[in-house]
Amino acid sequence: MGGTTNTGLLTYALARAGHAVTCYDADESLQLLAWSREAGDFPCTVHEADTPAFADTVYPEMDHTRINVVDAGHAENHPDIVDSVLEVADLVILTLSPTNPDYERLTKPERGTALAKVIKRSAALRETGEPPTTYVLLNRCQAGAASPAKYADLLRNGGKDGTLPKWNVLSTQIPRREAIASAVGFPCDKRERRAPYDALVTELTQRGHLPTVR
Ligand SMILES: Nc1ncnc2c1ncn2[C@@H]1O[C@H](COP(=O)(O)OP(=O)(O)O)[C@@H](O)[C@H]1O
Ligand SMILES: [Mg+2]
Repeated sequence: MGGTTNTGLLTYALARAGHAVTCYDADESLQLLAWSREAGDFPCTVHEADTPAFADTVYPEMDHTRINVVDAGHAENHPDIVDSVLEVADLVILTLSPTNPDYERLTKPERGTALAKVIKRSAALRETGEPPTTYVLLNRCQAGAASPAKYADLLRNGGKDGTLPKWNVLSTQIPRREAIASAVGFPCDKRERRAPYDALVTELTQRGHLPTVR
């Protein structure tokens, strides 16, 4: 949850940090594409890419010297598209609110396949034979609340009894803010839309997932 918001604001932050970046909207709602048209200051091109043939038709055409950011949409609605993106992604960022409904959607979804399995099985189609490196980004985090740390622990440790899949959780957390809630479709003209995502770029760089900018 919060996928498009975080994809867009991360893209602005990557561009601010000096990265050459291009976006691909692989969600049928095409909200990221609309954002890039409406905002006026969107920092890069957004390509329409909501196809289950993503790996076969979109990926080969990418400029692989750039950071190519994909908004993959919700796996339970478009599992075929998400599968195809996972086939070629170098890094997966899963956005999640520190709430029980979001946690349950990840760990025991009412419908569809649990995301941990979707990611794991993508290994079979990947060149490396390994699943992509995956992080959970906690978003809509209430300042001072106990829930972000609680859910970060549950995710890292595989649930209360350690039997669920274990996730890498980014230490950067995106706060719950009105300026972020209303970001999709609008300019990145507020500090609250920038600071958490600059921190995210710093963390991803420190973890070795982004090239150094020359
Ligand atoms: N950091 C945040 N603080 C408050 N509301 C947020 C935040 N991030 C997202 N939202 C809200 O969550 C909802 C879902 O966001 P969206 O980016 O459209 O998610 P998705 O693309 O996964 O459907 C929207 O109503 C948005 O305003
Ligand atoms: Mg979306």
